[in-house]
Amino acid sequence: MPTNRRTFIRQSALATAGTGLLGSMTTPVWGSRTNPPASEKINVALIGCRNMGFGILKHHLSNPEVKCVALCDIDENVLNEKAADVKKNHNQSPKLYRDFRKVLEQKDIDAVIIGTPDHWHCLIMVTALQAGKHVYVEKPMANTIAECDIMVKAANYYKKTVQVGQQQRSGFLFQKANELVKSGKIGKLRKVNIWANFEYGTGPAIVPDEPVPAGVDYDMWLGPAPKRPYNKNRFHGSWRHFWDYGGGLQSDWGVHLLDMGLWTKDILQAPPKTLVYAANTYGQERARETPDSMTISFPKEDFVINYEVTAGLQRGPWDMTYGIAFVGNDATLVCDRSKLMVYPEWDNNARKARAEEYKFTEGKESHGEHVRNFLDCIKSRNRPASPPEVGRAAAMHAHIANIAARTGESFLLWDEENRRFTNSEAANRLITPEYRAPWKLPVV
Ligand SMILES: NC(=O)c1ccc[n+]([C@@H]2O[C@H](COP(=O)([O-])OP(=O)(O)OC[C@H]3O[C@@H](n4cnc5c(N)ncnc54)[C@H](O)[C@@H]3O)[C@@H](O)[C@H]2O)c1
Repeated sequence: MPTNRRTFIRQSALATAGTGLLGSMTTPVWGSRTNPPASEKINVALIGCRNMGFGILKHHLSNPEVKCVALCDIDENVLNEKAADVKKNHNQSPKLYRDFRKVLEQKDIDAVIIGTPDHWHCLIMVTALQAGKHVYVEKPMANTIAECDIMVKAANYYKKTVQVGQQQRSGFLFQKANELVKSGKIGKLRKVNIWANFEYGTGPAIVPDEPVPAGVDYDMWLGPAPKRPYNKNRFHGSWRHFWDYGGGLQSDWGVHLLDMGLWTKDILQAPPKTLVYAANTYGQERARETPDSMTISFPKEDFVINYEVTAGLQRGPWDMTYGIAFVGNDATLVCDRSKLMVYPEWDNNARKARAEEYKFTEGKESHGEHVRNFLDCIKSRNRPASPPEVGRAAAMHAHIANIAARTGESFLLWDEENRRFTNSEAANRLITPEYRAPWKLPVV
């Protein structure tokens, strides 16, 4: 391919933010060590340390070859607390940073874990890839459709290992569910019914704006998102209820659960058709922009994925708060992260069940396995369990449903080739985020 047509990152966050690293605009300049051999240490850095990011770092540190060499957070309180934990429990003293760009200048880092809110994922991931680092990025892969596309292209260009935090792909229970559905044990798949009913989805009680807490670099927390006064409801943890930073319960749980539906047929495309009903039944009582009630359908070639989101309630079908029912002609397979049951249909003519019953009740969270898979893939260069294409497909389903809710369009048609909606200009305007200066959307 001629040089001028090569796909490359033309501008980076580093280039735009005045760190004097303009040389990094076209090619990775710092580079990490070459892929470490199986026996060698893997040095990791965590960017975004408070909740999930730190959990994922802990899973990394439970592997003997991993060393934490850097921690970065815009909140000094979080940073110091997590540094003390790493010192106490792992006897390690990572360098501490408040600016992720400085982290990426540290040469001995092999891999970066991104545990920030969603609106930061794209910029930090692309910049980390440019710096030659492998990346474990939390889900949803990004907060918009355009960012997902950029991240897939960047991962392919820089050829580093990227694992998206859709850990269910690495766990025994969902692997078993996938195997049972794919092998035809429930007969021909007709529907995948998904639901997520969580109390937290309503958002917290409304509180007034306040001064920025001591030790917090709030402008750096906002980053590419619009400037707003500090309000704790839009900050740690509860940012996920506001469009600038997240996609609500719909994408928070949606990417995990939708991913399981897409996996049954290894679908990597965005949905061509989306049908959505959305409502905010809690009105203005809670601090939230995202809808508290949504009913979504994604018709696929020969089956349909349905997704019900209900914030503020915790009971759901099959007496499960959240879950998936794979409905086949011969049986329905129902599961969440702890249990998996196959309920056969009864054949009235043959007077016997059409499928075998199956029950597994020892499922558990699979972050540890997902991290192990990431580390193995850094060494083997094999495709990880949840590569960017998988992260993009799940995020796209979530984002398109949210765009339908935001525009009031109950039916959206997506043209995957042209990366546009064919029936709504209002929806098209939500594909690409507007980054607040000096931050710029990376271009691939
Ligand atoms: N895989 C899972 O099961 C799972 C579960 C929960 C959350 N998540 C994902 O993890 C991510 C983080 O969620 P959370 O609940 O931990 O959020 P959180 O608000 O608790 O923590 C985010 C941290 O990132 C820091 N941060 C923000 N901007 C930063 C920047 N520019 N540089 C450095 N640090 C920055 C914040 O100060 C905070 O400490 C989200 O993408 C979320 O969707 C995944």
